Amino acid sequence: MPLELRVFTLADLPRGLEIEKLAYAPNPFTPFLFPGPFPEESKKMRSEYFIKALEQDQTARHVKVIDTEIEDDENEQMVAWAKVHVYKEPPELSPRVFGPGSNVEACEKLWGGILAQRTRLVGAKPHVYLHMLQTHPTQQGRGAGTTLIQWALEQAQELGLPVYLEASPDGHGLYLRNGFQDVDLLETDLSQWGAKDMHRIWNMMWYPKGA
Ligand SMILES: CC(C)(COP(=O)(O)OP(=O)(O)OC[C@H]1O[C@@H](n2cnc3c(N)ncnc32)[C@H](O)[C@@H]1OP(=O)(O)O)[C@@H](O)C(=O)NCCC(=O)NCCS
Repeated sequence: MPLELRVFTLADLPRGLEIEKLAYAPNPFTPFLFPGPFPEESKKMRSEYFIKALEQDQTARHVKVIDTEIEDDENEQMVAWAKVHVYKEPPELSPRVFGPGSNVEACEKLWGGILAQRTRLVGAKPHVYLHMLQTHPTQQGRGAGTTLIQWALEQAQELGLPVYLEASPDGHGLYLRNGFQDVDLLETDLSQWGAKDMHRIWNMMWYPKGA
């Protein structure tokens, strides 16, 4: 099996950001939420967000999946990555900040709603937050996402903590098959910016065995 789980480090960030951009490019809401153009300042802001998480946030854990049979370049071996937060104490939640190239009003409407749901559902509880999960589009459907989810669940099981996440339509079925349950559905109307359908995010929980 050529897919292997490894720790994600600062050196992986450029490839990680490239995967993030490519993974969300087909999302029908991306043109409304992030219409661009993206000056260097905006790329720097996104990069600095992750550098801070990697270097300073004691709750954050970053992991990647590599394909050991990809021989070109070590960097190219990375096919997917994830960020989880282990909140042994209730977290301090703060709103996401959006850089140039974002539709700030639309983003604040969507992520403001996401934060309100998160605060209501797990804001006062110790838990593991599966914040980000993305697989390079050419590498999807090979099990990298499942490997990362299973890693997060093993961490949570060891700690006896539930896992919370906000699922995109792409991830929803996969999370259900990995034992998550829907606890709520957040529908956001972005039609004033041209969206044809409601934006949907499923709030999901997974509970450790024996808890
Ligand atoms: C959601 C996402 C992370 C899934 O990653 P992935 O690496 O494709 O995940 P997997 O390969 O483990 O599973 C995907 C599907 O492939 C299937 N699969 C897994 N291993 C497989 C294999 N060896 N052969 C064939 N199919 C396989 C899984 O059963 C799953 O099917 P399902 O969607 O019907 O449940 C990916 O689609 C993505 O990055 N999407 C864009 C960003 C996003 O929405 N992220 C989630 C935010 S909550």
